[in-house]
Amino acid sequence: MSGPRVVLVGPMGVGKSTVGQLLAERLGVAYRDTDDDIVAEAGRSIAEIFVDEGEDAFRALEKRAVRRALTEHEGVLALGGGSILDADTRDLLAGQCVLYLAMDVEEAVRRTGLNTARPLLAVNPRKQWRELMEARRHLYEGVATAVVATDGRTPEEVSQVALDAL
Ligand code: S3P
Repeated sequence: MSGPRVVLVGPMGVGKSTVGQLLAERLGVAYRDTDDDIVAEAGRSIAEIFVDEGEDAFRALEKRAVRRALTEHEGVLALGGGSILDADTRDLLAGQCVLYLAMDVEEAVRRTGLNTARPLLAVNPRKQWRELMEARRHLYEGVATAVVATDGRTPEEVSQVALDAL
């Protein structure tokens, strides 16, 4: 298939999958998510991969999945929230249309709550969110061609703002 490639980055829970699917529909292109690719390939959930093999092993799988998806997929592509931690991945995103879906920490805590299925938030979500966003915000901003604020917006509204930003 062909069509505009739009890459979505941003923290977990910001709505990359929901918005990404809406955006793909409206653009008439396919949607793909690197987390889904990793789960399909490993035959295990992301939480299981973290527990069984640790975060570093997950990041190696993620790096490969992102590289492959960027080669194969031309529609809307959502990347796992931590994929931009990798410098090579950030380099691969240079020159691409990359939308950063952003939310503030309180919105993040509200949306993800005490969701322990997300391994990085298992202990103290508010503190972990703050640290995570402090460490990553500039990385998201660094790869993004546009920032789309999601606070207080429905997925439909966010996808409209995203469309307008393309
Ligand atoms: C992670 C985000 C998750 C998933 C894993 C680690 C992160 O993806 O890849 O739990 O480090 O931010 P989503 O952003 O799709 O939830």
